[in-house]
Amino acid sequence: MRIEEHPILKFNRGKEIKFIFNGQELCGYEGESIAAALHAAGVMVLGESLFKHRPRGFYCAIGNCSSCLMVVNGEPNVRTCITDLEEGMVVEIQQGKGSIL
Ligand code: FES
Repeated sequence: MRIEEHPILKFNRGKEIKFIFNGQELCGYEGESIAAALHAAGVMVLGESLFKHRPRGFYCAIGNCSSCLMVVNGEPNVRTCITDLEEGMVVEIQQGKGSIL
Protein backbone atom coordinates (compact mmCIF):
# COMPACT_ATOMS: atom_id res chain seq x y z
CA MET A 1 0.00 0.00 0.00
CA ARG A 2 1.31 3.42 -0.97
CA ILE A 3 0.02 6.84 -0.04
CA GLU A 4 -0.87 8.34 -3.41
CA GLU A 5 -2.16 11.71 -2.22
CA HIS A 6 -1.72 13.67 0.97
CA PRO A 7 -3.24 17.03 1.96
CA ILE A 8 0.12 18.44 3.15
CA LEU A 9 2.95 16.36 1.68
CA LYS A 10 3.90 16.13 -1.98
CA PHE A 11 5.42 12.96 -3.40
CA ASN A 12 7.93 13.24 -6.21
CA ARG A 13 7.92 9.64 -7.27
CA GLY A 14 10.77 8.45 -9.48
CA LYS A 15 10.42 6.00 -12.34
CA GLU A 16 9.21 2.48 -11.73
CA ILE A 17 12.01 -0.06 -11.33
CA LYS A 18 12.11 -3.81 -10.83
CA PHE A 19 13.98 -5.76 -8.18
CA ILE A 20 14.08 -9.33 -6.90
CA PHE A 21 12.90 -10.31 -3.42
CA ASN A 22 13.50 -13.94 -2.43
CA GLY A 23 13.38 -14.97 -6.09
CA GLN A 24 10.22 -13.01 -6.90
CA GLU A 25 10.22 -9.95 -9.16
CA LEU A 26 8.66 -6.88 -7.55
CA CYS A 27 8.30 -3.23 -8.53
CA GLY A 28 9.28 -0.13 -6.63
CA TYR A 29 10.18 3.45 -7.43
CA GLU A 30 13.46 5.28 -7.70
CA GLY A 31 14.10 7.34 -4.60
CA GLU A 32 12.36 5.08 -2.12
CA SER A 33 14.05 2.75 0.32
CA ILE A 34 14.15 -1.02 -0.15
CA ALA A 35 12.04 -1.51 2.97
CA ALA A 36 9.44 1.00 1.77
CA ALA A 37 9.16 -0.77 -1.58
CA LEU A 38 8.77 -4.13 0.16
CA HIS A 39 6.18 -2.74 2.54
CA ALA A 40 4.23 -1.27 -0.40
CA ALA A 41 4.34 -4.69 -2.08
CA GLY A 42 2.79 -6.29 1.01
CA VAL A 43 6.00 -7.74 2.47
CA MET A 44 5.81 -7.05 6.21
CA VAL A 45 8.42 -9.54 7.46
CA LEU A 46 11.96 -8.42 6.61
CA GLY A 47 13.83 -10.86 8.84
CA GLU A 48 13.74 -12.72 12.11
CA SER A 49 15.14 -12.27 15.59
CA LEU A 50 18.48 -13.95 16.22
CA PHE A 51 17.56 -16.29 19.06
CA LYS A 52 13.81 -16.84 19.08
CA HIS A 53 13.36 -16.44 15.31
CA ARG A 54 10.40 -14.11 15.71
CA PRO A 55 9.44 -12.05 12.65
CA ARG A 56 10.95 -8.59 12.33
CA GLY A 57 9.79 -5.76 10.10
CA PHE A 58 9.89 -2.03 9.57
CA TYR A 59 10.32 -0.37 12.98
CA CYS A 60 12.31 2.86 13.35
CA ALA A 61 12.71 3.54 9.60
CA ILE A 62 15.73 5.79 10.30
CA GLY A 63 18.56 3.26 10.53
CA ASN A 64 18.79 2.95 14.32
CA CYS A 65 17.19 -0.33 15.36
CA SER A 66 18.50 -3.01 12.94
CA SER A 67 15.04 -4.51 12.58
CA CYS A 68 15.28 -4.34 8.81
CA LEU A 69 18.67 -6.03 8.21
CA MET A 70 18.62 -8.01 4.98
CA VAL A 71 20.98 -9.45 2.40
CA VAL A 72 21.23 -7.08 -0.59
CA ASN A 73 23.16 -8.16 -3.68
CA GLY A 74 24.89 -10.79 -1.53
CA GLU A 75 25.93 -8.34 1.19
CA PRO A 76 24.48 -9.16 4.65
CA ASN A 77 23.38 -6.72 7.36
CA VAL A 78 22.14 -3.99 5.05
CA ARG A 79 19.73 -1.58 6.75
CA THR A 80 17.05 -1.63 4.11
CA CYS A 81 15.08 1.27 5.61
CA ILE A 82 17.86 3.72 4.70
CA THR A 83 19.19 2.04 1.55
CA ASP A 84 17.79 3.30 -1.73
CA LEU A 85 16.22 0.82 -4.09
CA GLU A 86 18.06 0.29 -7.38
CA GLU A 87 17.09 -1.41 -10.63
CA GLY A 88 17.81 -5.14 -10.57
CA MET A 89 18.71 -5.37 -6.88
CA VAL A 90 18.53 -8.82 -5.34
CA VAL A 91 17.10 -8.66 -1.82
CA GLU A 92 16.80 -11.66 0.48
CA ILE A 93 15.66 -12.33 4.01
CA GLN A 94 18.71 -12.84 6.19
CA GLN A 95 19.10 -15.98 8.27
CA GLY A 96 20.93 -15.45 11.56
CA LYS A 97 23.72 -12.89 11.84
CA GLY A 98 24.66 -13.08 8.19
CA SER A 99 28.11 -14.08 7.09
CA ILE A 100 30.66 -12.78 4.67
CA LEU A 101 32.40 -15.48 2.66
S1 FES B 1 13.80 -0.17 10.62
FE1 FES B 1 15.18 0.39 12.20
S2 FES B 1 17.14 0.29 11.25
FE2 FES B 1 15.73 -0.07 9.67
